[in-house]
Amino acid sequence: MKIINLKSIDSTNDYCKRNLGEDLIVIAEEQSNGRGTKGRSFVSNSGGLYISVMKNYGEFPASDSFKIMINSCVAVCKTLESFGVSPKIRWANDVLADGKKICGILIENTLSDAYISRSIVGIGLNINNTLPENLKDIATTLFEQTEKSISVEAVRKILIENLQKEYSIDDYRAYISWLNSPVTLKFLDGEVVAKAISVENDGRLKVEIGGEIKIISSAEVSLKL
Ligand code: BTN
Repeated sequence: MKIINLKSIDSTNDYCKRNLGEDLIVIAEEQSNGRGTKGRSFVSNSGGLYISVMKNYGEFPASDSFKIMINSCVAVCKTLESFGVSPKIRWANDVLADGKKICGILIENTLSDAYISRSIVGIGLNINNTLPENLKDIATTLFEQTEKSISVEAVRKILIENLQKEYSIDDYRAYISWLNSPVTLKFLDGEVVAKAISVENDGRLKVEIGGEIKIISSAEVSLKL
């Protein structure tokens, strides 16, 4: 796949959207307008890895969209493991180390009828970057976790290799440690404590709230562990 290395860009996902056509991997040393899920921003100072993989599909069923999430989350987890970190997934698409966010993933799919015709998987991984003061309690870096300065290139190489592999939902589930425990669900209009039961095959989360079973999608809610 063609790889484009940039020093600085607004957002590697947005770069892909402006350069539709062939499959692309776009990497930037920093982003001025890094974007997260649910319209949030993603702090993208130099020293981190900011990468987007744009793939065109023939007929990839939209009902299988969770597979794209599985592949990217597990590829990140396997990459972190190869540097001695024990990652966890916070459903749906955050990767934590030592309870703090080390990586965020933003997947933007283009649909045509019941199919995904294109996906842009954007991954932001904290490596040697300095975190702003307000994120220090909730985010971490590979440097903080390993107490070693590992080069962004070394991480990037392994991540790109892992992103070419196929993983299963069981691989994804292996990085989830919080099932059967109480979690806080953050809806737009407030928070609810629930018991997490399972991640369903389609990626939705099965929870028990006040004795009632509910199945919720990650578009409606974020999870606080
Ligand atoms: C999140 O945590 O909400 C998702 C963050 C995704 C950040 C990555 S960095 C590379 C790509 N470009 C972006 O603007 N966002 C993604």
